[in-house]
Amino acid sequence: MEETQNEINNNKNEDRFLFLPITSKETLELCLNYNSNINSILFLSSYPKSGTTWLQCIVYQLLSYGNELFEHISYISPFYEINKTWFDLNYYNKYHENHLKLGYDIFNTHLRWNMLPKGNNIKNIYIYRNGRDVVYSFFQHLSNQADSGTYNGTFEEFYNDWLNSNIPYGSWIKHLKTWIEAAQDPANNILLLRYEDLKLNLLQSIEKISNFLNCNYTIQQLEEVILPHCTFDYMKSHKHQYEPISVGWKPGFEFIRKGQIGDSDCIFNEHYRQLFDQMIVKEFPEGLPIWLQDYI
Ligand code: PPS
Repeated sequence: MEETQNEINNNKNEDRFLFLPITSKETLELCLNYNSNINSILFLSSYPKSGTTWLQCIVYQLLSYGNELFEHISYISPFYEINKTWFDLNYYNKYHENHLKLGYDIFNTHLRWNMLPKGNNIKNIYIYRNGRDVVYSFFQHLSNQADSGTYNGTFEEFYNDWLNSNIPYGSWIKHLKTWIEAAQDPANNILLLRYEDLKLNLLQSIEKISNFLNCNYTIQQLEEVILPHCTFDYMKSHKHQYEPISVGWKPGFEFIRKGQIGDSDCIFNEHYRQLFDQMIVKEFPEGLPIWLQDYI
């Protein structure tokens, strides 16, 4: 399998898109051309650190009527663009068996819209989160990985790399833009969710996801059977089912970490805020689109 420097330049040099070393060019080809003649496909998509694992938890709870007895979420909704998902037969057998039971080929992915297959048997849920909290959470994640992927710099260095797309998955704002613009066309079957809305009203967000997946729950069932398994405290106390198994962590670090809106306020000074605002203005020189106006 060919390992790549793992960079795609979508737009000359202005739009770098780096990948983790566990994603090869061959895998990306497979990702773009995947189809299933058995199941519908369901992509749970996001820029990293935006609530992907939480979304996977909610979707599985909905599709399994609140089943708590499963081994690990990655055997339910594997990470789409990593080589293991495509080339490890034992792993494939495990998640494929679950997909057959659930009626969906479910994957979590951080790919952009244009890197995924399209079709009317495909549903997409895209979750996004305030960029300042995303970059802080991302920094915590990569600084606390206990393997060769550990980030050893300061937050300032990391932030600078993030603003310049020198971090896997490239620009946060371009990621949101590709998905949110695609979602304007109903034919693309994309449900948009904001992490902050899940935090503020989890039941309402679960109901939206339930409707999108055509599940037949009453509000009372959602509240009694599904919601209790999707809270931050519940997931933290069941971290063995949610914490990524492919990486090790430094002692004391919890992947289900804080889960708060505005957690980055502890580090974001005026200068960092200005850099953030400049990054947004650069992306939208004509003015902010409506979806961003009440969000930044
Ligand atoms: S990853 O590595 O990209 O898959 O990370 P991702 O799952 O997208 O995001 C991790 C952040 O989501 C928080 N999280 C939650 N917040 C609220 N409620 C629930 N149930 C929940 N589960 C996970 C997790 O703590 C990470 O955010 P931070 O800010 O680091 O705490």
